[in-house]
Amino acid sequence: MHVDATERKWVILSFLMAFLMIAILSAFAIKQNIQPPSNVETIDSVGLHLTEEFGEDNLGLKVADDGSLVATMVAMRYGFYPQDMKVPANTPIKFRIASADVLHGVHTAGTNMNTMVVPGYVSELTTTFPRPGTFPMFCNEYCGLGHDYMWSRLIVVPKDEFKPGGE
Ligand code: CUA
Repeated sequence: MHVDATERKWVILSFLMAFLMIAILSAFAIKQNIQPPSNVETIDSVGLHLTEEFGEDNLGLKVADDGSLVATMVAMRYGFYPQDMKVPANTPIKFRIASADVLHGVHTAGTNMNTMVVPGYVSELTTTFPRPGTFPMFCNEYCGLGHDYMWSRLIVVPKDEFKPGGE
């Protein structure tokens, strides 16, 4: 089969460009610690408030039996609950987030925390916030007319100033 020299050159070039882009994406994902969602855990979104874990009184940051920190949140049109959450810096925190109605997303600006919250599933991710500050958490999946106003705040305090259980 005859392939024109110019055509062959461009075929090779386009393959190289595709590989280069994959390499850049992979390097970026590894460097930024970006992971695909992996937790498959179903939950009845309609009865979320009736569950122990996602009941209104049990939301927020808690210390698990093994001493690790777990933050439980509910995403609901149009807000995240709890509205403000204080967490320590430089400490791994496991987030468990469920939606009470439709598809939402949690994007915490200035951090690597970003996940979809699909109704019927518990979104779980573990991350560490390296620097203290107040970070807005936005909904980044269109969920209705109030989508623009759906946000909350994550307050990262220095590790030595953090008291577990204290708000
Ligand atoms: Cu919730 Cu957009």
